[in-house]
Amino acid sequence: MAEFDVIVIGGGPGGYVCAIRCAQLGLKTACVEGRETLGGTCLNVGCIPSKALLHATHELHEAEHNFAKMGLKGKTPSVDWDQMKAYKQEVVDGNTKGIEFLFKKNKVTWLKGWGSIPAAGQVKVGDEVHTAKNIVIASGSVPSSLPGIEIDEETVVSSTGALSLKKIPKSLVVIGAGVIGLEMGSVYARLGAKVTVVEFLDVITPTMDGEVSKQFQKILAKQGMEFVLGAAVQSVETKGGKAKVTYKLRKDDSEVTIDADTVLVATGRKPYTDGLGLAEIGVEMEQRGQIKTDAHWQTTVKGVYAIGDAIIGPMLAHKAEDEGMAVAEVIAGKHGHVNYGVIPGVIYTTPEVASVGKTEEELKKDGVKYKVGKFPFMGNARAKAVFQADGFAKLIVDENDRILGAHIIGPGAGDLIHEVCVAMEFGASAEDLALTCHAHPTFSEAVREAALACGDGAIHA
Ligand code: FAD
Ligand code: NAI
Repeated sequence: MAEFDVIVIGGGPGGYVCAIRCAQLGLKTACVEGRETLGGTCLNVGCIPSKALLHATHELHEAEHNFAKMGLKGKTPSVDWDQMKAYKQEVVDGNTKGIEFLFKKNKVTWLKGWGSIPAAGQVKVGDEVHTAKNIVIASGSVPSSLPGIEIDEETVVSSTGALSLKKIPKSLVVIGAGVIGLEMGSVYARLGAKVTVVEFLDVITPTMDGEVSKQFQKILAKQGMEFVLGAAVQSVETKGGKAKVTYKLRKDDSEVTIDADTVLVATGRKPYTDGLGLAEIGVEMEQRGQIKTDAHWQTTVKGVYAIGDAIIGPMLAHKAEDEGMAVAEVIAGKHGHVNYGVIPGVIYTTPEVASVGKTEEELKKDGVKYKVGKFPFMGNARAKAVFQADGFAKLIVDENDRILGAHIIGPGAGDLIHEVCVAMEFGASAEDLALTCHAHPTFSEAVREAALACGDGAIHA
């Protein structure tokens, strides 16, 4: 048994960042993690392995489709799937070991095992009960399936199984046109699978800016992905390592069955709080299974906090990290803060899709007057040089030119979005961005041109 100022339960981006910040602020800190490695969903079976596969298959796509155009002729690479998975694992291992190193450097104790909270101020790991003045729950989330569909992680997989398939399927049905479905669908489409995405709603990535989702769907379709929208999946049957997916089209109730080698169920994730004993100590939950917290991430039990995927808000690693840092500051008696209005979202396909702030759809619904400045990457010299001139950058401003949101589909969108995030944090206007010198030739000129389009007009459009 040991005594701590803070025990964090969960070693994902929320938990490990919180633990490190607590230690940096002089608090005696431990982090409980039941997995063999630190880093949570994100580093082990989420952000990092998926980005490794996206990178490898993007390079393959470049070799197959664009090398010859640039005069790079010769043998197109063949795919060694086992080696690609080994590369992915090496990237994961490097990152998870990195967190272990950071724990040692910052003197965070890793309590290995699954934790529970027998009472406020106590955390049980294995047979040991440790005491802590503060407890932070960062237990994350797990994939949620659909009623009647059994995930066996071989033929019918969640994102976890999709990252480690035994072989590349000839055909893949993806249920859900959200972030996981489109990222992993892209990976396998580039590896030669026939990918069909079945989505319940009439649009892909339904929470994104409408114009962006339409353009995104067009681009992915050009890359070979097929979309069935407005379709309610009825069942998935498996036999002899193959699957049959039956869906009903919502417009006319007609039923269609398609065959697939593999089915990826990507219809969302749910908070993971099993085994923590929350009900027993009086921690209240939200209707959809998230832990209820106040504005300072404290649960309904004093001294017990919660952050990340386990609470309300977007299930994103950087949102969890920001909450981790903020709650550490609160516990240390400082002023932790997260600006939920400026949390970017990025989809790491080619092209990347990124957004921050309000969409036009949200502003219309709220009756807010706004103006849009848009610039196509077709007018961006650098994007044309790298065969990625299909998208656009779009800035939304209010009547006083203050930036309300940005939506970008194009090369490097996931990095470009951050200049808008910084601008929004400073309450900047589009004119402020437009007056800022941007190096030429860079993709970021598209953001400046979108800002110019909010005023007297873009130059290159
Ligand atoms: P988690 O990362 O889920 O970590 C929780 C940890 O707590 C786990 O390791 C779990 O083992 C541990 N734990 C739970 N209960 C206990 C217990 N009782 N005792 C001990 N340990 C416990 N987000 C992005 O921002 N960008 C991306 O590119 C991105 N890509 C993704 C790709 C995929 C395929 C998936 C599935 C997710 C992706 N996400 C991405 C989402 C991101 O992974 C999550 O938002 C993020 O990991 C949440 O962090 P967290 O710390 O709240 O929880
Ligand atoms: P999601 O919420 O992004 O998308 C789920 C999709 O499935 C939606 O389009 C929804 O309409 C659809 N759907 C729901 N029920 C359905 C049904 N019965 N039939 C057909 N379609 C149905 O969830 P996803 O993709 O599983 O991702 C989970 C979380 O992981 C997300 O919250 C996301 O934030 C995070 N993530 C983030 C990434 C990133 O930041 N790049 C990458 C991958 C995941």
